[in-house]
Order: sequence, then C-alpha cells, then structure tokens
Amino acid sequence: MATMGSLIGLVNRIQRACTVLGDHGGGGGGSLWEALPSVAVVGGQSSGKSSVLESIVGRDFLPRGSGIVTRRPLVLQLHKTEGGQEYAEFLHAPRKRFTDFAAVRKEIADETDRITGKTKAISNVPIQLSIYSPHVVNLTLIDLPGLTKVAVEGQAESIVQDIENMVRAYVDKPNCIILAISPANQDIATSDAIKLARDVDPSGDRTFGVLTKLDLMDKGTNAVDVLEGRQYRLQHPWVGIVNRSQADINKNVDMLAARRKEKDYFESSPDYGHLAHKMGAEYLAKLLSEHLEAVIRAKIPSIIAMINKTIDEIEAELDRLGRPIGGDAGAQLYTILDMCRAFDRVFKEHLDGGRPGG
Ligand code: GDP
Ligand code: NA
Ligand code: MG
Repeated sequence: MATMGSLIGLVNRIQRACTVLGDHGGGGGGSLWEALPSVAVVGGQSSGKSSVLESIVGRDFLPRGSGIVTRRPLVLQLHKTEGGQEYAEFLHAPRKRFTDFAAVRKEIADETDRITGKTKAISNVPIQLSIYSPHVVNLTLIDLPGLTKVAVEGQAESIVQDIENMVRAYVDKPNCIILAISPANQDIATSDAIKLARDVDPSGDRTFGVLTKLDLMDKGTNAVDVLEGRQYRLQHPWVGIVNRSQADINKNVDMLAARRKEKDYFESSPDYGHLAHKMGAEYLAKLLSEHLEAVIRAKIPSIIAMINKTIDEIEAELDRLGRPIGGDAGAQLYTILDMCRAFDRVFKEHLDGGRPGG
C-alpha cells in the first residue's frame, strides 16, 4: 500500500527528473518543481546551518567550519530505502556511487571550487546530491551560503546583497519550508534568519525556528523563553539543537556520539529537561517530515492539475519530435511521463480516500 512516505519519495524522483531537464526551480512560475515542497536552511554565516543538515541526515558529509564554507546552494535529496548500503550520488557525476561520506564532502568542496575557484566568491549554480539510506526520512533539503553583513578581504562589495538575493530566490517560493537557524549565543532580535523569514513568511506558517549553540550560551543564561515561543512566536514550535563544536569536529567525534551527547545534554539540563522530548536534530527531522506530508496532502488537487498539464506538454513535445525518439532527451521525457502518470494515479487514489494498491 502506498503511504504518504512513498508519496514524498515520488515527489523526490520527479524533482530530480525535472532537474535533469534543466528545470532548477529558479525560473519563472508554473514549473512542476515549484509546485512541490522542499526545505531550505537559512541563517547567518557560521550559525550552524550545515551542521543542522548533517544531523538531520545522520551522516558526516558536508564541509563545515568558520568563515564562508558553503559557497554554492546544495540541493540534497534524501531517499529512504528499505535496507542495504547507504550511498550518495551527484547529478554532475551520475554514474559514480559514493559509499565513503568523507569522499562526498571532498567532492562538494572540489565541485564548489570548480565553479568559483579557490576564492571566497559564491555561485548560484546549485550542486545536486542524492543520498539513499534506510536511516533517513524522505526530504529535499537545500543548504545555502550564510547571510553576511560585510564583504571580507577577497570578496566583491556586492557579496552581501548577492547572498541575500540567492537565499531569497529559494525562500520566496510559497512552497519552500524555511529552516531559520539562529545561534543561541546571539540575541534573537539580531537574527538574520528570523529577519528574512519574517519578511518572506509573515504569518510564520512555513518557518521552523531552530536555535543552535545552546551549549555556548553565557553561564547563568538560558533560551527557555525563545524555545517556548515567548520571544518570537511562530506557528511551529521552536527546536533547540546542540551540534558538534569545532573542537569535536577536529577530534572527529562521529555522528552517533554527537547525537548521544545532544540527547544527554537536554535530558540532564536543569533548564531544558522538561523540553527534552521536543529538542534535538532527530526530533526536528520528524517534525519536518510530518509537516511535509501535511503540505503535500493539502496540495494534492493543485499538484494533480500541474501534473496533467505537464503530461499534456510532454505528449505534445513527443508528437512534435515524432515518436519514438531516441537518445538521452527522449529517454528522459519518457521517464518523466511515466513518473507523472504514476504520480497522478497515486494522488488520485489518496484523494478518493481509497486503498491504493502497490
Ligand atoms: P554554517 O556556516 O551556518 O553552515 O555553520 P557550520 O555548520 O559550518 O558551523 C560553523 C561552526 O560552528 C563550526 O565550527 C561548528 O562546529 C560550530 N557549531 C555549529 N553548531 C554548534 C553548536 O550547536 N554548538 C557548538 N559548540 N558549536 C557549533
Ligand atoms: Na561556516
Ligand atoms: Mg554552511
């Protein structure tokens, strides 16, 4: 029986197919990509965006650190598998399966440099990465360069605005779920993430507030007021996170140890003990997945309309080209067509409230 989880899997596959055809979701309205939800991570530089993404995935694979490390958008699709080995695949190297996640990190860094050079420059050309694993939830996540206030040595003066424009291009879309990352050791009133999120999502119904670096707050202070929504109210609950520190990263503290440490931190904390079950990266992943499913459920009618339009367009294109057409382009069109039909079928079954088979 098709579950909502498998529906999200189908969304992932269609998004990937669209990207193969050059529809990166950055163009004008109306594309299939834009009808489907994804999750973008926004916040100031070094607020912990890449670390949060890694925790959600449960794998070490992203370049992290001080300064501007993330310099191109990373579109990351998580595919839950039934079992077997975890692996990653890049769109720019489709026939290469990565099972070593340290090599994934290196490839992201190399591929970033390939476009921007070994500079502090940024590029809005996304890197597309898929991870297949039994340990993830089905999600599309987008890691973005951090918002900054000043250009540093070696950067163009325009970089502050360039980064903001790039981030806005993703979070402006009504279907983009915003993971707004704020470090707990800075005043929430100065949070770049909240400022931008409030601007593009004033009602707060697609913004998740994430508070990192709880372990780095001044002794004698805590973030309970923020976490309980009394400082800045959002529709969704705030989630507190303790990522690995730079010292942990240098010591190669692994993900499992980091998760255990985070769990212990909350459970043994006099300030946050009562919130422990609603804190941490695993809880955030669960919250996001549930929200995504609810969003998709609500969008089923409009997605069906979009898919039917896409089917019509592809069929017209195939007619124009004279079928059967060969080559990669033809194969891709047929693949998308098949997926759209499958998608349409499953969605209609959900709409009917029936028991879909298969
Ligand atoms: P990004 O620039 O927003 O992607 O941030 P990164 O994930 O690259 O993290 C920047 C630095 O902050 C790294 O050295 C991380 O180890 C550190 N860091 C991130 N989150 C936390 C946290 O919750 N606690 C501590 N102690 N350090 C953190
Ligand atoms: Na950073
Ligand atoms: Mg980063």
